Amino acid sequence: SEALRVGIAGLGTVGASVARVLAEKAAELTRQCGRSIAVTAVSARDRNRDRGVDLSGVEWFDDPVALAREAEIDVFVELMGGEDGPAKASVQAALERSCHVVTANKALLSRHGVSLALVAEKNGVLLNYEAAVAGGIPVIKTLREALAGNSVSRVFGILNGTCNYILTRMEAEGISFEECLADAQRLGYAEADPTFDIEGNDTAHKLSILTSLAFGTKISPDDIYLEGISNISQADIRAAAELGFRIKLLGVAQRTESGIEQRVHPTMVPTSSVIAQVHGVTNAVAIESDILGELLLSGPGAGGNATASAVIGDIADIAKSRPGFQHGPVFGRPAKELSAYKKAA
Ligand code: NDP
Ligand code: HSE
Repeated sequence: SEALRVGIAGLGTVGASVARVLAEKAAELTRQCGRSIAVTAVSARDRNRDRGVDLSGVEWFDDPVALAREAEIDVFVELMGGEDGPAKASVQAALERSCHVVTANKALLSRHGVSLALVAEKNGVLLNYEAAVAGGIPVIKTLREALAGNSVSRVFGILNGTCNYILTRMEAEGISFEECLADAQRLGYAEADPTFDIEGNDTAHKLSILTSLAFGTKISPDDIYLEGISNISQADIRAAAELGFRIKLLGVAQRTESGIEQRVHPTMVPTSSVIAQVHGVTNAVAIESDILGELLLSGPGAGGNATASAVIGDIADIAKSRPGFQHGPVFGRPAKELSAYKKAA
């Protein structure tokens, strides 16, 4: 089969990791998808910056919208960020020319997700966004695929790695909010504008996407009660600990008699609870539904590799979604390529 041609707009923490992992894992991905995945075009602001990846032979675009409109690609991967501007214009342009799109941009989706999904549907292409919620945790696939037929009553969790990293280190090491935030930025966890993390907007963007998937509603970030962690002090954390609690920034969406309630705020959780044991950049999402019952997913919620893992999963899904590819629902790769295994002596 012909290679899947990928254009990446944005080569920062996530985009550079995606390009690097696609190169490092080329053989494994070809085996799993039955075809190779080739990055053929990229865009970022600074053409001269070393991204730690070999971009020789890859077409460079200063303008991401021109990449989306003109590059010879099958998939447009948007990793720039921002709810409007070039992110929206380029995703729209790619979908309109029947290019599949993968994005990690929850700000964009929380504002324009439904209208962009309609453009994708009209043009018969996929809009995949696993990395937009809870980093590497496959929560979108879980809600969209694995929980088919379930009616969800509640979805909640720790959806922002930066905030959980700050709260964890403030409690464990007694260091200041500002120092923890600076480290989260240095490690590539925080948004370009970290106010979105610490004031809860990023959690609200993610929660609005989960709510829409879980309850079949329109995405509505403005209908979320919102309170961040910027006012949480060492004294608050110590007072909570003395009472047997830990402070976590939670996003909660639940079905109530008066409709779907959505809120984001710092919450005191009992120290012995599972959610209190979620430390550092780890995220956790709990889903309560009628057929399955209670499900808890946890894992790395931010950072280059964690996010790249989800983005590449979305690209691989597109590589596999073609007529005649017998990857099989059980084994996920061509049956003829399954390896034999040896029985232990
Ligand atoms: P960065 O700020 O590290 O990278 C942004 C990239 O976009 C940079 O390469 C930048 O170019 C490029 N860019 C910005 N504006 C333009 C423009 N107008 N034209 C061309 N290129 C542009 O962000 P992240 O990698 O951290 O995040 C990217 C996306 O992924 C965001 O939507 C974010 O919310 C999301 N995300 C991030 C996660 C993380 O852990 N970091 C996790 C999950 C999602 P240049 O390098 O030249 O400045
Ligand atoms: N800034 C985000 C976070 C990135 O800290 O969770 C992952 O979406």
